[in-house]
Amino acid sequence: MSNDNRYYRLAVLPGDGIGAEVIDEALRVLKAAAVCFEIEFDAANYLVGGAALDAGEDVLPHATLEACLASDAVLLGAVGGPRWDNLPADNRPERALLWLRKELGVYANLRPVVVSPEMALSSPLRPEFVDGTDLMVVRELIGGIYFGESSVSRDDAGVVQKAGNTMSYTREEVRRVARTAFEVAVRRSGKVTSVDKANVLDVSRLWRDAVTEVHREEYPEMKLEHLYIDNAAMQLVRRPTQFDVILTANLFGDILSDLSATLVGSLGMLPSASIGGRAGLFEPVHGSAPDIAGEGKANPAGAILSAAMMLDVLGEAEAASSIRRSVAAVLQKGIRTADMQGDGVPATTVEFGAAVAGELAATGGSRNGHSKTAAEASSHS
Ligand code: NAI
Ligand code: MG
Repeated sequence: MSNDNRYYRLAVLPGDGIGAEVIDEALRVLKAAAVCFEIEFDAANYLVGGAALDAGEDVLPHATLEACLASDAVLLGAVGGPRWDNLPADNRPERALLWLRKELGVYANLRPVVVSPEMALSSPLRPEFVDGTDLMVVRELIGGIYFGESSVSRDDAGVVQKAGNTMSYTREEVRRVARTAFEVAVRRSGKVTSVDKANVLDVSRLWRDAVTEVHREEYPEMKLEHLYIDNAAMQLVRRPTQFDVILTANLFGDILSDLSATLVGSLGMLPSASIGGRAGLFEPVHGSAPDIAGEGKANPAGAILSAAMMLDVLGEAEAASSIRRSVAAVLQKGIRTADMQGDGVPATTVEFGAAVAGELAATGGSRNGHSKTAAEASSHS
């Protein structure tokens, strides 16, 4: 369904390292989609993370937070890097992420992992096992151990001798993210796998109970299964095609979704959407990749596909699928960045982004009757 005025305010937060490089390409592709599908974006850039610290601001400047809260969607690159690693914990760039997610209230993080035959060849796992994988990790994002109580005790010399973090959830926190997972499953095959460590942890026993309750009360027609996190990690590598929706807590979801990157061959391929709050937050799964920053080697596909997820959430499903189709077409042509093993000279970040935008401009409307190619659109204006 499309919004009537089809005008969206975007807060764009490129951040650090390869963040800015991949966001540039996501914006290039969004621009191409905007032309084809006659969507208007008012996109403005804001500082976050190390980039904000370097400008003498807080990791999440007030102006950035205000802009995010007032926008229809937030598109973020990545934050962090070795330059800021020695700062005290509450001044590290990564804090901006947790803070922003919390302020926006985006409690559900959706991370799709789809493996096409050509991507299966880039996976370090055997292609016949990963080909056909199409799963969605639904990770709880603003609770659990990343937001629980923490304690650090030092000896007289100031050396940390004991430290702890607490994983705790309320029943309602689990219920709301469980609902999101079942809603996602309704539009897919209808199966949810909830992942916990209920054989050991009380917090996981609450998790399992609350998920089961939501299933029984609200989604009895869906299929629900439970797996322990250690087994889930093994199953994800052994037979990923058995999964549809994986519902899990903040820490477990962080780990499982990075693990899923091995299925597609590169962390650079994976997009994410964080929803449930004032505005959606859309960001690639990867970090700032300081080892390759500034070299034009970053794979922008995760950021580009995050922009597609943003369009989906904004109700622009056709534009979203045209972006996904264009990324697939570019990969099919054998155009890949260095992280995706392939033959021939790897594409640079800009070359990959330009190829996707070019593909979209040339064929954006070819699979539906409602959009125009860039050439048709410009001949009307
Ligand atoms: P990372 O995701 O930045 O990099 C892990 C590995 O994957 C590196 O070898 C990197 O070169 C590669 N990689 C990542 N994205 C890629 C892409 N788009 N194209 C090609 N290769 C890619 O994780 P790492 O190294 O653990 O963390 C680096 C920094 O990023 C740290 O400061 C960390 O705290 C931060 N970080 C930030 C996140 C965010 O902003 N959402 C998430 C994860 C880490
Ligand atoms: Mg991670």
